[in-house]
Amino acid sequence: MSESLDLAAFPADFLWGTATSAYQIEGAVADDGRAPSIWDTFSHTPGTIDNGDHGDVACDHYHRWPEDVALMKRLGTGAYRMSVAWPRVLPAGHGTVNRPGLDFYDRLTDALLEAGITPNVTLYHWDLPQVLQDRGGWTVRDTAEHFAAYASLVAGRLGDRVTHWATLNEPLCSAWIGHLEGRMAPGLTDLTAAVNAAYHLLLAHGLGTQAIRAAAPGAQVGLVTNHSTVEAASTRPEDVAAAARMDGHTNRWWLDPVYGRGFPTDMRELYGVELPERPGDLETIAVPLDWHGLNYYFPATVTDDPEGPVPHAREVRLPDVPRTGMDWQIDADGLETLLLRLTEEYGVRTLYVTENGSAFPDTVAPDGSVHDPGRTHYLEQHLGACARAVRKGVPLAGYYAWSLLDNFEWAYGYDKRFGLVHVDYATQTRTIKTSGLRYAEIIRAHRQTHT
Ligand code: FCB
Repeated sequence: MSESLDLAAFPADFLWGTATSAYQIEGAVADDGRAPSIWDTFSHTPGTIDNGDHGDVACDHYHRWPEDVALMKRLGTGAYRMSVAWPRVLPAGHGTVNRPGLDFYDRLTDALLEAGITPNVTLYHWDLPQVLQDRGGWTVRDTAEHFAAYASLVAGRLGDRVTHWATLNEPLCSAWIGHLEGRMAPGLTDLTAAVNAAYHLLLAHGLGTQAIRAAAPGAQVGLVTNHSTVEAASTRPEDVAAAARMDGHTNRWWLDPVYGRGFPTDMRELYGVELPERPGDLETIAVPLDWHGLNYYFPATVTDDPEGPVPHAREVRLPDVPRTGMDWQIDADGLETLLLRLTEEYGVRTLYVTENGSAFPDTVAPDGSVHDPGRTHYLEQHLGACARAVRKGVPLAGYYAWSLLDNFEWAYGYDKRFGLVHVDYATQTRTIKTSGLRYAEIIRAHRQTHT
């Protein structure tokens, strides 16, 4: 039925988890004092999201969380990566705390622990309070400072039970897709804004890390970044140079400063935007971390594109390669390569795959089951890549499948289904897919290899 996996490669205490994020699953956007985020604004702007979808109801997780925790228990996962919605706990972005919002995460934390599931809490998965956007959002320094105060508040409340914390999810997407390509909130297409946002996001990460540690001594704090391997489409020097630029844009820009190398000079020159740097910022950004989270979905092959937007490198679509329903190329070797790179080039000492998964157009069969061989195969291939990386010395401590549930896939709306669990949005019925059953089987088999 399926590939045999080298499960003995994974340590006995390896964390098997699933991941979600607040705006993609919670719904209840106006309940109990939550204020709008930039994603509420963006998704309600005509033309931004496929089918005019938005996160108003999503998976209704805000009300159905006990059922969702029970699903995790059925899968046998030992960890859950979730995010806190900033505008739920601080509707004005800073200042007055909205107790009911914070209470929600408190209850959820208790329920997870009760079910034997370790929460890994991301503080920012793209849902900036709209009021802060109105004052400049990530393009201004104040937002980084407000983030640190928000991090301190949440860590102060949950830090007696939550040990695993992430500051940001994929700052690349917030900065480059949100401020340069305009395909995500806040929907800007402005290089200066994008570079300033990138800077302040990384500053927020550093300040937030310090704030979490001060509020919750013993916290294990990390950063979650998304990466792709980058290949040149040909051996032409122009294409090779384009691949180096794309690697800078996608990988080095986000890792070099965090690991103490500063912002890459070639990219600073390429962007030509002065950084809003103040003394001490680079040290703050490079604050030592307890772990790094890698989100991996697809590789990139690029060609020189002098007329195109920065980094003047265009992705080419390779023919005859396997793809997911997102049209993303499937390449599990890329995951192994990136795990090795984080370990060898950046010296990361504890790694998690914090997201990895695939969308396919699943359907519910007449007998009520959801058979998803494409996703099952993707999962097995990528776990195989993780096992190979571990055998080569990568300190991989866990894997979080994206996603527990089908959910609001940003600009693609609800059509793109990434869940191990199917969600019928009309009835909110959850059905564990074949891939979810396979994941449960893998988790059980891994436990047996160590008993
Ligand atoms: C990542 C996001 C996550 C999800 C997956 C498919 O970029 O972090 O929220 O949308 O892609």
